[in-house]
Amino acid sequence: MDNKKVLLTIFGGTGDLAQRKLYPSLFRLYLKGQLKESFAVIGTARRPWTNNTYREVVQKAVASLAQTPEQAATFASHFYYQSHNVNDTEHYVALRDLADQLDEQYQLAGNRLFYLAMSPNFFGTIVHHLESQGMITTDGYHRVIIEKPFGTDYNSAETLNAEITDVFSETEIYRIDHYLGKEMIQNISAIRFANNIFESQWNNRYIANVQINIAEDLGVEERGGYYDKSGALKDMVQNHILQVLSLLAMEPPIEFSEKGIRQEKIKALEAIRIYKEDEVKEHFVRGQYAAGKRNDQTFASYREEENVAADSQTETFVAGKFYIDNFRWSGVPFYIRTGKRLTEKGTRINIVFKQVPVNVFKTSINEPCEQQSLEPNVLTIYIQPTEGFSLSLNGKEVGNGFDMHPVKLDYRNSSEILENTPEAYEKLLLDALNGDGTNFTHWDEVAQSWRIVDVIRHAWDHSTAEFPNYAAGSMGPKEADELLEKDGFKWIWSPDVWYRERG
Ligand code: BG6
Repeated sequence: MDNKKVLLTIFGGTGDLAQRKLYPSLFRLYLKGQLKESFAVIGTARRPWTNNTYREVVQKAVASLAQTPEQAATFASHFYYQSHNVNDTEHYVALRDLADQLDEQYQLAGNRLFYLAMSPNFFGTIVHHLESQGMITTDGYHRVIIEKPFGTDYNSAETLNAEITDVFSETEIYRIDHYLGKEMIQNISAIRFANNIFESQWNNRYIANVQINIAEDLGVEERGGYYDKSGALKDMVQNHILQVLSLLAMEPPIEFSEKGIRQEKIKALEAIRIYKEDEVKEHFVRGQYAAGKRNDQTFASYREEENVAADSQTETFVAGKFYIDNFRWSGVPFYIRTGKRLTEKGTRINIVFKQVPVNVFKTSINEPCEQQSLEPNVLTIYIQPTEGFSLSLNGKEVGNGFDMHPVKLDYRNSSEILENTPEAYEKLLLDALNGDGTNFTHWDEVAQSWRIVDVIRHAWDHSTAEFPNYAAGSMGPKEADELLEKDGFKWIWSPDVWYRERG
């Protein structure tokens, strides 16, 4: 079966995600020859657009990537628009007729990929209509890609899942977490499972703590309406952070395949300790930004953002500590931190190793004297905006004495490599076309993530936060630092100056 002969139907085809991410990603696949002549795209949404209007929008979305305007126009000629009301059965009939016609015209062998890039409230209605109105053919494959958020808590996620699995089987459902399409997130498995130097140390005997940071410099921009109902816990922790954590914590898979990796990720998520509501305060910190300053720029507070309640209790920052109760990780804290309007944009993972058993380096050979301080070895994985790894070690200062000082082995992808790194959406679309679900989240992962997060949410919903509690342009409330200090650790974080230093 040629997987890439396909009819792609995008619900939400006029939207921001489609224009910013999906059309450019499809175009890159087209330029690389992954999509050839046999593909067609139907965009649907409420707006009464014509094919021509739609194609102009698609051309505009890919213009900066095209070598010539004709190239963009040829690509856009594969796009068709069907105005659509998701609740109206008649509209699905029109959609099916167009789909059947395109199937024939482009010889698509009945292969259909549906992309639901709109509010999850409509997912159930859409998939049921797709089935009842004959959009799902018996020949060829049919798959559905679903954008987040997948529910707003465990119960709503379960209801949503039941609706979708009425029509599509688990292997046909591709739940997107765009972090799983990022080059350096995929590299976590390479670092771990292709380097014995690390895998042999990757446990509670050698690792003191793990730190996952997803810092954002932006605020909520024009998404205040959505964000104020969601908050950082549901927006970032339930999905991206727990996914990253599971990749860091999982056991080596028996084979590097969808089944092998998913099995191990699920086991890791299931080993994460679910706190009791009264334990949440001790392990989690929430924050919301006040007005503040970064360099010379001043920022309004979160509560002053558009479509945000003036007394909003929504958190724009979360720091917390997870424990994984299995043999490998027992006792090792996994700290997580994410927030909006922080000092800089940076996603970084720190693996902080334990100190040497005995520090033999003294400040002088004469007694009495003190021990020299030694920094812990830290493996940092730079996810974005720079990509690479560094390993900090302790070395001897050049000279006649024996003073220790920290040194760093630092590797980053060059700006040329960065420019050519495929976008997360490009990789994930290609995976979905190929029928490879490795980098998508299985229902069991989603379910377990909600179980973990729901308790934290409940605890917070039952108490009033003293917001705002951190200044825009800072790294969050001081309680986030204290969270580590009380365990004898600190966040390892300094401005990422790689490009500024090396050009
Ligand atoms: C999205 C969140 O899932 O991820 C956004 O909804 C967040 O609030 C974004 O800004 C971060 O993604 P990235 O790729 O910019 O790190």
